[in-house]
Amino acid sequence: MEYLKLFFLICLSWAQIISNVQSSDSNQQPIPAEKLLVLTVATQETDGFLRFMQSANYFNYTIKVLGMGEEWRGGDVGRSIGGGQKVRLLKQAMEGLADQEDLVVLSVDSYDLIFAGGPDEILRKFQEANHKVLFSAEGLIWPDKRLQDKYPAVRSGKRFLNSGGVIGYAPFVNQIVEQWNLHDNDDDQLFYTKIYLDPQQRESLNMSLDHKCHIFQNLNGAIDEVLLKFGTERVRVRNTVFDTLPVVIHGNANTKIYLNYLGNYIPNAWNYERGCGVCNHNMVDLSQLKEYPTVLVGVFIQQPTPFLSEFFHRLVTLDYPKDKLKIFVHNNEVYHERHMQRFWEESKDIFNSFKVVGPEENLSQGEARNMGMELCRQDPGCDHYFSIDADVMLTNKQTLKILIEQNRKIIAPLVSRHGKLWSNFWGALSLDGYYARSEDYIDIVQSKRVGVWNIPYMAHVYLIKGEVLRNELTERNHFVLEKLDPDMALSRHARELTNHREKDSPNPETFHMLRVPKGIFMYITNRHEFGRLISTANFNTSHYNSDLWQIFENPVDWKEKYIHPNYTQIFTENYLEQPCPDVFWFPVFSERACDELVEEMEHFGSWSGGQHEDKRIAGGYETVPTDDIHMKQIGYEKEWLHFIREFISPVTLKVFSGYYTKGYAVMNFVVKYTPGRQSYLRPHHDSSTFTINVALNSKGIDFQGGGCRFHRYNCSIESPRKGWSFMHPGRLTHLHEGLPTTNGTRYIAVSFIDP
Ligand SMILES: *[C@@H]1O[C@H](CO)[C@@H](O)[C@H](O)[C@H]1NC(C)=O
Ligand SMILES: *[C@@H]1O[C@H](CO)[C@@H](O)[C@H](O)[C@H]1NC(C)=O
Ligand SMILES: *[C@@H]1O[C@H](CO)[C@@H](O)[C@H](O)[C@H]1NC(C)=O
Ligand SMILES: *[C@@H]1O[C@H](CO)[C@@H](O)[C@H](O)[C@H]1NC(C)=O
Ligand SMILES: *[C@@H]1O[C@H](CO)[C@@H](O)[C@H](O)[C@H]1NC(C)=O
Ligand SMILES: *[C@@H]1O[C@H](CO)[C@@H](O)[C@H](O)[C@H]1NC(C)=O
Ligand SMILES: *[C@@H]1O[C@H](CO)[C@@H](O)[C@H](O)[C@H]1NC(C)=O
Repeated sequence: MEYLKLFFLICLSWAQIISNVQSSDSNQQPIPAEKLLVLTVATQETDGFLRFMQSANYFNYTIKVLGMGEEWRGGDVGRSIGGGQKVRLLKQAMEGLADQEDLVVLSVDSYDLIFAGGPDEILRKFQEANHKVLFSAEGLIWPDKRLQDKYPAVRSGKRFLNSGGVIGYAPFVNQIVEQWNLHDNDDDQLFYTKIYLDPQQRESLNMSLDHKCHIFQNLNGAIDEVLLKFGTERVRVRNTVFDTLPVVIHGNANTKIYLNYLGNYIPNAWNYERGCGVCNHNMVDLSQLKEYPTVLVGVFIQQPTPFLSEFFHRLVTLDYPKDKLKIFVHNNEVYHERHMQRFWEESKDIFNSFKVVGPEENLSQGEARNMGMELCRQDPGCDHYFSIDADVMLTNKQTLKILIEQNRKIIAPLVSRHGKLWSNFWGALSLDGYYARSEDYIDIVQSKRVGVWNIPYMAHVYLIKGEVLRNELTERNHFVLEKLDPDMALSRHARELTNHREKDSPNPETFHMLRVPKGIFMYITNRHEFGRLISTANFNTSHYNSDLWQIFENPVDWKEKYIHPNYTQIFTENYLEQPCPDVFWFPVFSERACDELVEEMEHFGSWSGGQHEDKRIAGGYETVPTDDIHMKQIGYEKEWLHFIREFISPVTLKVFSGYYTKGYAVMNFVVKYTPGRQSYLRPHHDSSTFTINVALNSKGIDFQGGGCRFHRYNCSIESPRKGWSFMHPGRLTHLHEGLPTTNGTRYIAVSFIDP
């Protein structure tokens, strides 16, 4: 009983202490949240506006939007003065609210502003500031520097007024804005500044600035002051200079990109505990639509590009109804005309439409991209424009569906160079508009942070809504701008202010410049794995099948194209055979590898003829000659030895355990057996520790007969399999012969390893 009482007393006194702390400096009652009204001016529902509303709704602010649908006449804020229209609209709105003495009005911009905290917090901080009206503050003076001396000095904190945010009791705010009698394109900040700098008004209206960013954080000139502060529920911005957690984050002047970065986190967009909090907002479900949207696919082949037929194959096998896809290809390379022609013949009837512009048109990259985009813009039935460069390997067949379902104006799938940090987006821009690394860039590329990210630059592959091309990105030319790369030009057009001419104005002289205020957001998603970027550097196109040489530059694509699909099963499922003692048999080459290697040799054409005299080898004499071409002769030695190290050595280690091959070989060649030239090879040993012998074509289809016989074991393998290799010791135990090919032509690739 006594304990309980004591406990009760302790609790009581704690409660008193806590409530005392909370209402420190004043005995006021907290203002209830419903007494806060947010007023904002927005003439259009830009992406920035929608983001603002999302954060406001998340915190349950009561918002009144002024001016929606009105034409913007407030000038080009951000570059020059303007914004008077905002004051006019606020003045009108305040007329009806002026007599509500306990109403607190928060007037803020919306296109470049995000809430990081809720109404209760703002009201508490407003009360603590103990003024009737509080403007946001910044360290830079604008627009009239001459007014500096008129500003009251501050001991610490930001000294100058910014009009992007003001909070105050309704009658007082009204007394300020009712003084407005200027034009829509006059400057709002100058107007407020003059009132604030008038000492009499400053006192009578009880005005102050939020010097230490308790409520308002203007980012201009202050990016170095702020950091993200991750919580389990929410993410805040912390001002590290004043150690405050501002509630209203304003990307004024040239800090939009940084605000976009912050907006990828605050208030609930992404955190470590829950990951992405907004990724599922506004998704569309394609399966619920009566019909799939029509997509114009713009394909750009701007330079010699390896694995182009694989690229085309991936395009054709995208999981999307082909009758909803229209194809536009710009091929800038004469080298690729034969590939292009083949693709066109194979698939022109598969797609809804198919248009190709070839190198003879001599279009610049920018012009070609303008042309592709214009095809979608001009076609009211074009729902999306999907631009993809030939160096993008989309391994995810669902990519197009996923992007459409994410439902953004502009969205790109994240693709990166395999194992590298090189990707198709930038997280930040340098001052001159080029690449800068954002704090989160590496985590996003490596998918340590997964979500849909607002970014300043994207390239190589992206999806844009057709209506955005028709309503916002309306100019014909978005890709040619100064000396920028086409994708940089596009990104800049999307990001920055875009001026629109009003469509139905009769007189060109009176065209109003409509203002789409703060750009279109570009997103990159890494919610799924989409594919990779291949390297087009060091692509030597002087070979017949030049992709064969890509084993160093694009090893993943090389392996996918040229290594047998079941190769890895050798290790996982013991997928190999031993047809004769110590003769191992396993799949290594794909069909394509076999065909292209044979083609390459036949294209080269200088078969040795199977003579004993052989200038290609040391000593110039071959005791057991074959009709062959050495890898060295076609310039494939380095690549072939790499292939041996990468794909043969692991098998060697598995079957001859304890033997570590150096993967060294001087004799690497393709042999041709055919009746009439050389059809068989007499019994012999090889000058190798072990030999590999890969069948490059198929018995019964390409030739009859053939095979290999090992004498000591009286054991023959008469049905070699295309793409499979033998591996056997070269000397002593494994005397062997090549059995006669009786019809057609048989090809094998042979290496004497560790001679
Ligand atoms: C907003 O209101 C909803 C519904 O009343 C409530 O569930 C939610 O918790 C509120 N959000 C915040 C941040 O207070
Ligand atoms: C401003 O108003 C507060 C009450 O909201 C009052 O306590 C304070 O003294 C006033 N300051 C001035 C300078 O009038
Ligand atoms: C192709 O265009 C470039 C630049 O526009 C020009 O310099 C060049 O002469 C043109 N070539 C041909 C073959 O028309
Ligand atoms: C490209 O390959 C050819 C034929 O093998 C060779 O002569 C040429 O030097 C190579 N070019 C480069 C840049 O490696
Ligand atoms: C790969 O192995 C599976 C059995 O594991 C077989 O069904 C398939 O045909 C093989 N693929 C090729 C290309 O040989
Ligand atoms: C070799 O094997 C064949 C059957 O595969 C058999 O007919 C022949 O007698 C064998 N020769 C020797 C020398 O064992
Ligand atoms: C040899 O192959 C050709 C075609 O490849 C075929 O027409 C012919 O019948 C074959 N001859 C024999 C003896 O199998």
